Amino acid sequence: MSIVTSTPALSRRFDGVRSSIVRDLLALTERPGVISFAGGMPAPELFDAAGARASFDAVLATAPGKVLQYSPTEGNADLRAAIADRYSVRGLPTRPEDILVTTGSQQGLSLLSMALVDAGDVVLVESPSYLAALQCFALAGATLVEVPSAGEGIDAEALAQLAERHQPKALYTVPTFHNPTGRTLSSENRQQMVDLAQRFGFRVIEDDPYAELRYSGAPVPSMATMSATDQVVCTGSFSKILAPGLRLGWVRTDPTTKPALVVAKQAADLHTSTVDQAAAAHYLASGRLEANLTRCRTEYGRRRDTMLAGLPRALPAGSSWNHPDGGMFLWVTLPPELDASQLLAAAIDHQVAFVPGAPFFARSPRTNTMRLSFITYPPDVITEGLNRLAAALRL
Ligand SMILES: Cc1ncc(COP(=O)(O)O)c(C=O)c1O
Repeated sequence: MSIVTSTPALSRRFDGVRSSIVRDLLALTERPGVISFAGGMPAPELFDAAGARASFDAVLATAPGKVLQYSPTEGNADLRAAIADRYSVRGLPTRPEDILVTTGSQQGLSLLSMALVDAGDVVLVESPSYLAALQCFALAGATLVEVPSAGEGIDAEALAQLAERHQPKALYTVPTFHNPTGRTLSSENRQQMVDLAQRFGFRVIEDDPYAELRYSGAPVPSMATMSATDQVVCTGSFSKILAPGLRLGWVRTDPTTKPALVVAKQAADLHTSTVDQAAAAHYLASGRLEANLTRCRTEYGRRRDTMLAGLPRALPAGSSWNHPDGGMFLWVTLPPELDASQLLAAAIDHQVAFVPGAPFFARSPRTNTMRLSFITYPPDVITEGLNRLAAALRL
């Protein structure tokens, strides 16, 4: 009898799938003393810990047997109703049964890729794009095709050509306060994409975790309001407006996608934490979320303004950057001869960090770009971080 000594290989689905450099970097930038503009960490001092505690206490006191028990895959009924209400108030009529609660919106993306994508299908993505979404689609075997940008939007003409050539299954977009660039697509640009989705028969996955963090300018409607059919499926999250550690997100589904998503979720984790959902539903009903969001918007807006005011001193001549109306990130383009990945080591030596832009591109990286997060620290720390960046980038 022969003895097999080698370990079986990993599944082929991991061939060529990269670990997220952003996650890897977070470890490095968590060294004490580093001011990190790298991760998208909400400011911990703005978490409403007292409110969260009161809600957990309340649900554990009144219904311990229920909230510590297994629960339906679709999610807590009160929470689904509250999420649906928030959409309806913002102009997108939504029923509780349209909502599937997920373990972070990241799980929503993962379930959608499982439900919608077969190996070899083309998924169109923005260039650059949110890395961990690219990972979901890649793990499902998708071929990722980048859609070029035109100004602050997606190039609709290029999108039409790519749709014609590739017959894609889906277009993935973060239309509001995009990660990594902070850009927001105009109403017209959104409508163009929805029209193309209808014409070519692909779905739009509208990933919208940042829309409620607006500090200036007028809200832009969700792409789902622009489609008479079920062409647009939305994912959302409490991570940026309540607390990421709760891992609470959702998918706004439709009758075609919902059954597949529910089966995929059963296979993934049966359901999202019962007690966390119950506490979140209680917290939403208490009205504290709106009050805390107002506080966050004011403070994050101040932080954005501090960073924007400091950038001209911190970055090399010839750099440019955008002025997002909300969210967490802004996007810097350095002079073309500079490589942000190479500059990161010098920055870390100066106890400051950012994320190089290159890994956010599915195919053709632009190495002279970087993402800066402006929300994590108070203004005086942002200023100190920018001083360090100026010292590190003094070329
Ligand atoms: C665009 C985008 N989508 C989804 C997520 C996942 O968020 P969560 O799983 O915490 O809801 C993030 C997290 O940063 C994000 O930036």
